[in-house]
Amino acid sequence: MPWLDAVDSSVYVDPAVHARERQRIFQRTWQFLAHDSEIPNPGDFVVRYIGDDSIIVSRGVDGVVRAVLNVCTHRGMQVCRADLGNTRRFTCPYHGWAFEPEGRLVSVPLDRHFGPDGVDRETMGLRPIAQLENFDGLWFGNMSAEAPTLTEYLGDFAWYLKIYTARDPQGTEVIGEPQRWRVPGNWKIACENVMGDSYHVQTTHRSVFECGIHPNQAKDFTSGGARNGIHIDAGYGTTGLSRQSAVERGYPRAMQDMFAETLSAEHRDLLFGEQPLWPTRAHLFPNFSLLCAGARISSTELYPYILMRTWRPIDADTLEIWSWVLVEKGASDEFKEKSARAYVLTFGPAGTEEVDDAENWSSMQRAFHGAESSAIGQVLTMGGKDEMDELVIADWPAPGTAIASSYTDAGNRRFHALWRDLMEAE
Ligand code: FES
Ligand code: FE
Repeated sequence: MPWLDAVDSSVYVDPAVHARERQRIFQRTWQFLAHDSEIPNPGDFVVRYIGDDSIIVSRGVDGVVRAVLNVCTHRGMQVCRADLGNTRRFTCPYHGWAFEPEGRLVSVPLDRHFGPDGVDRETMGLRPIAQLENFDGLWFGNMSAEAPTLTEYLGDFAWYLKIYTARDPQGTEVIGEPQRWRVPGNWKIACENVMGDSYHVQTTHRSVFECGIHPNQAKDFTSGGARNGIHIDAGYGTTGLSRQSAVERGYPRAMQDMFAETLSAEHRDLLFGEQPLWPTRAHLFPNFSLLCAGARISSTELYPYILMRTWRPIDADTLEIWSWVLVEKGASDEFKEKSARAYVLTFGPAGTEEVDDAENWSSMQRAFHGAESSAIGQVLTMGGKDEMDELVIADWPAPGTAIASSYTDAGNRRFHALWRDLMEAE
């Protein structure tokens, strides 16, 4: 993989780069679409996006989940105008063709005027997307039949994703619908922020530490001192592990015990040893992120939460955030409700830390357009080439490459190397 420690501003603002990304990145990589718990019953559906393509993800009467383009095969009208629901039919608002949620064309008004046999029901159904796969309740789609399978794509990262998805014997669910909002910034800035920028926390989010909303002691976790964490590069994924236990993150002791009992022995050895570790963030290239954080929702109550995100590009200058709260299915109703409150307080659309981050992203986006200021690109030299040999943990007992510092641009360097490979590929 090439060493990339600077990025030009043009990759964040150039409409031609954005148009190429839509083809080269978003048509070829795995995109998170929905959580299984969003469509539990036959006939349930949600509408999601891969790039600009609207996609219906539904559970058929046979219980099978499918994903089809939300585009009428007659003249391209969107057959589903709702965000979610339960239905037996989608009837196109233009001329009234009707489709079952799994895609089959079942009715065409005035069918005889299309010839003696009418419209061919077999070939004119809603088009399925090329690949749809599930990982522990998470549905991912891919628009390319030639792309590697999800298992191949996740590779070593699957081991780290399991820390989030496989720690409750009942699995996970999402709370409510995803929140959605737009930010005037390029989608890649937001991805970089999650996948490899622990550095900003001490400055950008200082006020959140100072007023006590964030559970960690700022001096412990933001000084790069003894509790400086670990960064993992694992194929298309990255992960951050902090040197703290799940209890320190805010989980009740009983839930930590459940995590330790449910995860694999390898996970147990790594996470629940003398120096416990707990994941803080994870990112799957190109635009899927998880964050495990916590917040004090009252003077006596600290609650953790997992937020799950996609960063959908609208155009070069606009990002649409899709944000879910993921929770253990077996957690108490009180835990679920308070975990969601902790999320809303900090990383909901008007959350304390969310607005801190969005202000940075939109300000940077404006600078990328300046005639002079655009000459200043992104510097990705932290934990650079000379330090890397020392920082890589040689005897790391789990998959991927472990770097003994949260303060490294390794994740962002890797993101841009993967991005460039795909953008330049034949
Ligand atoms: Fe859908 Fe004509 S565009 S029925
Ligand atoms: Fe942040």
